[in-house]
Order: sequence, then C-alpha cells, then structure tokens
Amino acid sequence: MKILVIGSGGREHAIIRKLKESPKTEKIYAAPGNGGIAMDAECVNIGAMDKDGIVAFAKENAVDLVFVAPDDPLAAGMVDALEAAGIRAFGPRANAAVIESSKVFSKNLMKKYGIPTADYEVFDDPRKVMAYIESKNKYPVVIKADGLALGKGVIIAQNHEEAQNAVKEIMEDKKFGDSGNNVVVEEFLTGPEVSVLAFTDGIALKPMVSSKDHKRAYDNDEGLNTGGMGTISPNPFYTDEIAGICRKTIFEPTVAAMNSEGRTFKGCLYFGLMITPDGPKVIEYNARFGDPETQVVLPRLRTDLVDIIEAVIDNKLSELDIEWSDEPAACVVMASGGYPLSYKKGYPISGLDENGQLEGAEIFHAGTKLENGTFLTNGGRVLGVTARGATLDEALDKAYAAVEKITFENAHYRKDIGRTR
Ligand code: AMP
Ligand code: GLY
Repeated sequence: MKILVIGSGGREHAIIRKLKESPKTEKIYAAPGNGGIAMDAECVNIGAMDKDGIVAFAKENAVDLVFVAPDDPLAAGMVDALEAAGIRAFGPRANAAVIESSKVFSKNLMKKYGIPTADYEVFDDPRKVMAYIESKNKYPVVIKADGLALGKGVIIAQNHEEAQNAVKEIMEDKKFGDSGNNVVVEEFLTGPEVSVLAFTDGIALKPMVSSKDHKRAYDNDEGLNTGGMGTISPNPFYTDEIAGICRKTIFEPTVAAMNSEGRTFKGCLYFGLMITPDGPKVIEYNARFGDPETQVVLPRLRTDLVDIIEAVIDNKLSELDIEWSDEPAACVVMASGGYPLSYKKGYPISGLDENGQLEGAEIFHAGTKLENGTFLTNGGRVLGVTARGATLDEALDKAYAAVEKITFENAHYRKDIGRTR
C-alpha cells in the first residue's frame, strides 16, 4: 500500500515509524513532514490544510490510504474531501471532529447524555460572563475559548482580576480569533490527569494503553501550558477499576451519543480525563492521536497498525484483537529555549546519527529540518526522545541517558518526566 500521512510533528513521526513495520506498507509519503520524518518517508511540500493539493497528490500518486493526524485539517473536512474523491482516509469527518473543535458542542453533548464532566455555562457576551463569575465568586475558575487555540485557550483564573483579563483577551482582544466568540466557564476540578486514546469505528471501541502527559513547561508542573513536554505509558493512576468505570460511564456513552446525534465518530478518539474524588470526569475530547502521547503509546502496539486502520474504515474493528507490549515507555521532549513563547530556530543538533537516531532510544522528530546532512532545530518542540524498559524507571533512565547525549543551543527539557507519581 501507498500511505500518505498528513502532519509534521513528533506524533506523525511515531505514526510513520509504526506504519513502516507493516508488511502491507510499500511506500509512505508525509505532507509536509520534517527533517527526521524524511528518513522514514518521502516528504512532499503540501500544507496540512491544503485539501485540493492533498486530494490531487493522492490521486496522481495512486495513494491507497491517507492518515489525517492533526486537529485542524480534520475540523476543516479533510477526510470528507478525500472520501468525496473516493480515497480511503483514517480520521473523523468534520461533523464528528467538532467534538474537539468546539468546546460548546462537547460540553452540551456530555450534559445531554449524562457523561461526567465539570459543571459549566456557555456565554457569548463578555459582560454576562463576568456577572456570572462574580455571582459565583468561587476561585479558581476555568475559562475556555470555544474553538481550537493550539492548546492555549484554557485559562485557570485564580481571582477576579485574572478572570477579567482572560475574558478580555479571549472575547474582546480576540487572541484566538473566532475561537473566542463563545466561552465556556467551568468548575475547577482536582485530581490526576490521564490520557486514553481509543480506536473506534463508531460500533466497537478499543482503548489503547493509557498515558500521562506533562503539559507545563517547567519541572514540578510550573510555567506555562505547552503542547506537552513528555509522556509515560501506562499512567500509574489508571487502575483496572478506573478503566472499567471509564468504559461504562464515558467511552461507550460517548460513541453512542455521537451516533445518536448523526455524527458517527471513526478514527482515534482521545479522552482527556481527570480522576476526581467523585470519579473520573472528562476534561476534554480530542478527535485525533495526542502529541506526545502517541510517542509512548504506539511503540507499545504489537498488532499491525495498517490492519487496525483498515478495520476502522471498514467497520470491522470488533473482529480484531489488538495486542500491546507490557513494557512501559517514556518520552522526554527536548524543546527550544523560550517555548511555548518565542524561540529561535536553525541551531544545529549534535548527538544524532545520520538517520537522526541514537542507539538505546527512539528519536521522534517534532521540529527539525535537514540541511547539508545536518539536523537543525525548526520548531518549539524539537525532539521526542523515547525508550521502553522492563520497568518505567528503566524506560525513563534510558530516555534521559539519550537526552544527555543530544545537544543544541538553548535546549530545554523537563528533568522530572514520570517522576511525579
Ligand atoms: P484542555 O485544553 O481542555 O485539556 O485544558 C488544558 C489543561 O487545563 C488540562 O490539561 C487541565 O490541566 C486544565 N483544566 C482544564 N479544565 C479544567 C477543569 N475544569 N478543572 C481543572 N483543570 C482543568
Ligand atoms: N498532548 C495533548 C494533546 O495532544 O492535545
């Protein structure tokens, strides 16, 4: 099969390396890919949002399958466009990807179908938001822009002033554009967070092994929220008992709710969960694989990923047994100094071999480019340094040993991934 993967980050690199293991895979293209991905796939210079360009490329090159990995092309209807052209695609259609791209939609869905989540109200008028927050007078309070905001549209306001600033930035200054036309004001929940990705064809749902993201920029969960600074799998807080509760109260009801709404979800559904004192609750849904969750989950997958993708597309997921390795995995993200705010690009990376890899670990390239045989930094998150081990500690030790051999100017990484248990 000829497979085209849309996207350019560490997640896409992890997906491509797993697809490469399949005997069914003959050729992989990435659009647009990156320097490290170019070692495993042929990168083509088409933007992830260019629907016409992607469809035309897939037709011209007789691509058998397109894997749409990032949120924005899914929300913009990339899968719909491919299907309309008769091309097989993995990922939800736009009418189902809305479960991620509109928080108002997902919150209303959960309320309507009794799926546990934080209490909330929706507003389209900044004055009414503040009147509501003042009447409740309970802090911290969580304020979320409705639409996609690169993972930065959630503000946890500790007091009235912070709430006022957040509402002004989102609704009046339009920091996230139209994503801030509506806001969700939410009750602040506490407890450990768990990421669970699941394959679903809209009939069966098969959860993958669990993982834990580390979203803050600095150690001890300090600093700004990022796309994710590292992950471990499994998540130590996700016991079999909790998994059973989640399946019954969250996972299956969500698939059924989307079907009832005429928005059947096919692809990878990501449950961002918090294990609160009142039980597991949904913090957010994503309509795609997580980044960097994928970097620790897919290396543990034993079943052929191409078989799973075909089963999802053909509504045959229930017939497939999906197997996982028992070995834990850890991923440490090496980022450009300054990320998630401004940072410089173009620094040479040393410590990698000519394929952008390093013995003892698997290196997923998130933001690199290749120039005259040298890998250069080319993004906020640069590398996801990943390892597996007999125990989580062994996996972490291996990942950190590899991190220590890699250097670039102003490199920043967290030293406590997986250690805050
Ligand atoms: P989200 O983009 O919805 O995943 O939110 C980003 C982060 O904000 C989450 O990973 C949580 O750490 C935090 N967060 C979101 N909603 C809540 C909430 N209702 N209570 C406490 N923390 C939250
Ligand atoms: N790591 C969080 C996400 O992919 O949304």
